Amino acid sequence: MPKYRIAWMPGDGIGVDVMDAARIVLDAMELDAAYVPADIGWEFWRTEGDALPQRTVDTLRHCDCALFAAITSKPKEEAEGDLVPGLQGKGLVYRSPIVRLRQLFDLYVNLRPCKAFKGNPLNFRDDLDLVVFRENTQGLYAGVEFHPLPQSVRSALEEASPRMAAFQDVDSADIALSMRIFTREGCRRIVRQAFEYARTHRYATVTLVEKPNVIRETSGLMVREARKIAGEYPEIELWETNVDAMAMWLVKNPQDYGVIVSSNMFGDIVSDLCAQLVGGLGFAASGNIGDKFAVFEPTHGSAPKYAGQYVVNPTAMLLAVKLMLDWLDEQDMATRLEQAIATVIADGQVRTYDLGGSDGTLDVARAVAAQLS
Ligand code: NAI
Ligand code: MG
Repeated sequence: MPKYRIAWMPGDGIGVDVMDAARIVLDAMELDAAYVPADIGWEFWRTEGDALPQRTVDTLRHCDCALFAAITSKPKEEAEGDLVPGLQGKGLVYRSPIVRLRQLFDLYVNLRPCKAFKGNPLNFRDDLDLVVFRENTQGLYAGVEFHPLPQSVRSALEEASPRMAAFQDVDSADIALSMRIFTREGCRRIVRQAFEYARTHRYATVTLVEKPNVIRETSGLMVREARKIAGEYPEIELWETNVDAMAMWLVKNPQDYGVIVSSNMFGDIVSDLCAQLVGGLGFAASGNIGDKFAVFEPTHGSAPKYAGQYVVNPTAMLLAVKLMLDWLDEQDMATRLEQAIATVIADGQVRTYDLGGSDGTLDVARAVAAQLS
């Protein structure tokens, strides 16, 4: 019996290309794992009306963690039009499988390390080592949304908040509402994970990115809980920054920051900003992590125009493998993999088009694998 069972979810488009790259590297390291294929993506929406079939969820429940590459998704009307004839007009609604995975498995941490590798021509600066902790299950992405505004919701809000008076002349059909929901425990657990990471990896600061001066209740709760937790980590400084100011600081002085923690939407935005500082989509990996399960992925999409051409940069996918090895506590392998990736980037001999090269996806994977043996 292999030590680990890892769900293997290439998805579609270039997801397939970069997963092949991941496999070359995993095989070179001889990780003691069984890779269990699991269906996810557009093809399953089209033919079954579900981009995340129940059998995939069942498979995941019998695995230690999952590697996921990328999927295609399309706006509502287009999604319906793509369904096979037998499924059209049945009222099927496309839902993002990755958001569903986060909620189903309570993967409340979105971990996004953004490190500038020496010699990467796309670095904004060469001295960056940022790690974003984004809350992954609540906030504005909790999915509690209305349009039109149901009368029961409207009445309750009007009774509870004098601010609703500003909208009294607007028809319910013309009001859309998306709820930003935070729980105390939701705030505590993401902040705690950020501080634990800062402690283990010896970062001097944790920067909380919110907007409590305007979004008083949700951001306010997050700030209060963060201050309490910070008290348990006297060696680490808590910095508090408003999200709009943070966008400026991250362009002006990104080298000043270490661990960053934020709620779902602000964290989403800030983590993309940070990713671009160190090379963009070809380098951005993330972990969706809960207490018992985790899904690791590059953050790019399926880039349909490059699908099957094996030309895109697999580095983001390989860094996702590195995050997985960290989580499995295969520390030695994780370190070796990161060093191998760093060496290939620094050498600059094997490069995909985004770095000005003309080598293929699998060439990069083989170059990394060669450093591992
Ligand atoms: P995308 O990330 O797929 O690609 C945008 C562009 O970025 C590509 O055309 C390419 O020029 C570049 N790029 C992306 N990954 C790269 C890599 N590894 N190496 C080099 N260059 C790379 O985003 P796009 O085009 O907006 O979306 C395409 C599809 O992917 C859509 O259906 C979208 O919904 C979906 N998507 C899925 C995500 C996921 O699976 N988590 C995330 C983002 C988009
Ligand atoms: Mg994003």
